[in-house]
Amino acid sequence: MSHIGLGKIILLGEHAVVYGYPALAAALDRGVRIGAVPTPAGGTLRVDIPSWNVKLTAEDDHPLALALGAIADKLGIGRPPVTLVGEAQIPPGAGLGASAAFGVAIARALIDYRDRRAAAAGVVVAAPQLTEVIAAANASEELIHGRASGVDVALAATGGIGVFRKAGGLRPIHIPALRVIVGPSGAQRSTAAMVERVAEATTTAGADDPRLRELGSLADSGTRALLAKDFAGLGAAMDRAHALLGELGVSTPLLDGLCEAARRVGAFGAKLTGAGGGGAVIAIAPRDKEDAVLAAWRTAKVDGFVTKVGG
Ligand code: MEV
Repeated sequence: MSHIGLGKIILLGEHAVVYGYPALAAALDRGVRIGAVPTPAGGTLRVDIPSWNVKLTAEDDHPLALALGAIADKLGIGRPPVTLVGEAQIPPGAGLGASAAFGVAIARALIDYRDRRAAAAGVVVAAPQLTEVIAAANASEELIHGRASGVDVALAATGGIGVFRKAGGLRPIHIPALRVIVGPSGAQRSTAAMVERVAEATTTAGADDPRLRELGSLADSGTRALLAKDFAGLGAAMDRAHALLGELGVSTPLLDGLCEAARRVGAFGAKLTGAGGGGAVIAIAPRDKEDAVLAAWRTAKVDGFVTKVGG
């Protein structure tokens, strides 16, 4: 049996969400799947994800090993002789929420392992709770990203599309499926470093920084535009958000170029998604312009794809 954590895209509000502002975010239809199998030779807790070249024990000095240990500790299950075997459908460090997807899938697999053992020992076990999955995965995100808002984990665990706030969690919204063009730039980066960069760029005003404030209000106005099927309005909010993220120091010439290329061939709007500094861009476009966006990105050696969110 395998357990999934979904990848995500942030349509509006990344970075500002760390300071308490809203973010409009959606789960991808793909992520990380993990199954737990007993390790025949015994020993400690292990994780093995061939497509990421990851083969680690919880004792290793590697961010994912530390994440695994943090999740096991939060669940209070020690280091059982189990190998967590994974299949990843999203690349790591690409701005698509791979680490949260990893954390959620690991948490689900370990909770399932723990509960099956308890049931086998005759204990009556309650159904797994989403809150426990989210708390365990957040323990690893905080370790990896420092000041994580929780948006990635909320989407990885819950799916769908919604408005996330640190204070209130994810409020789902209901819309017909929205097609989003995703362009993983291929440049890896560290979310923690980008969160730190924004902290440095906003030291004077903190959460009152006008750029953070505007990013938050764009998440609200973009959500209203999306609900009203005003895609031009949503696209304009995305373009402005990209410019503000650039002012905060988390865009790159490559990401700027990909967004400009998408707009040039007719996208409603385009922006970086996630922490920036590399990672991915997203665009929304009239259906008959999607191929042109993908072709423009291919000339920059970026292999994009269309994902449907909501619906
Ligand atoms: C990362 O996907 C989104 C950030 O806002 C960090 C966070 O919210 O934890 C950059």
